[in-house]
Amino acid sequence: MGRVVASAPGKLILFGEHFVVKGYRAIATSISLRARVTVEESEGSWVELYSPTLGARSRVSLSLEEPVARELEVYVEILRALRREGYSIVPHRVTVESEMPVAAGLGSSAATSVAYTLAYTTLLGSPLQGDGLLRVSLEGEKVAHGRPSGVDNTIAAMGGTIVYRRGEKPVQVEARIPEGYTFIVADTGMKRSTRSVVEHVLGLAETLWDVSEHIYKASDALVERALEALRRGDMELLGKLMYVNHGLLVAMGASNLALDTLVNIAKASGALGAKLTGAGWGGCIVALARKGSEAETLARELSKHASSVRLVDIHVPGATVEELR
Ligand code: MEV
Repeated sequence: MGRVVASAPGKLILFGEHFVVKGYRAIATSISLRARVTVEESEGSWVELYSPTLGARSRVSLSLEEPVARELEVYVEILRALRREGYSIVPHRVTVESEMPVAAGLGSSAATSVAYTLAYTTLLGSPLQGDGLLRVSLEGEKVAHGRPSGVDNTIAAMGGTIVYRRGEKPVQVEARIPEGYTFIVADTGMKRSTRSVVEHVLGLAETLWDVSEHIYKASDALVERALEALRRGDMELLGKLMYVNHGLLVAMGASNLALDTLVNIAKASGALGAKLTGAGWGGCIVALARKGSEAETLARELSKHASSVRLVDIHVPGATVEELR
């Protein structure tokens, strides 16, 4: 009986979340927290799904027709997409684990979708990579929210740091983060639905397009300057741009009191930059700081108001088969 373990990284959107949904550019980077999916061939006629992280368990027959726990629907949707791509559906057990907090803007659901797609297709002997991996894992993302831009599953599949525009080939960015700097992720502990925030921001954008078009264009200009800052390793500039990006997201209604509080604490504690990351209305902020005492002070101050604070490495490898037998 075959067994495959595949993993994919979570992500930080450094610039351009929400604006990317309407076709403007975003910069996303992979982080040193991963989702891991184990797929084991089994007897019988079921696909058994288990997520210890979510505390959910379900099974579905090989026709993929029965309803499953809501949190596990994404994996059935991926199997349906794989069936359309010509893959057969064989009985197997799926175990999904994630090092990231769920529904917190760090791309846990995209990373699990990508890791499952890679693990299952590897089990069947023809690993899906490149565009195929992106296409199928995006079907999983559609369950999580109706109009995904594709940035989350793309960074989970490719790793590194990318500049992404909907409908275009993602481009790897040369990201020079000098030794003495670190990214800090602080979680408000508030869970939210990406779908609701995306719909809210799109609604506001459309109602006020004469105003919001300028905000969307400002975000794209920020992306241009951020690419320059990343290439040069100019962390002072990168930090300033992060604060501006947070302001644009506030203007579009994606922030809330908890996120603004964490960003303001980061600023008051000397962070070079900080912003909400992901959809907003809860989830995480990302801050940029000098390593050592500055980062320590910042982490200490943030942890007074955050449910968790982590130092993360960025620009790590994308989807990987970790074990195959
Ligand atoms: C969510 O991680 C990022 C958003 O821009 C939604 C999307 O790109 O699909 C808010």
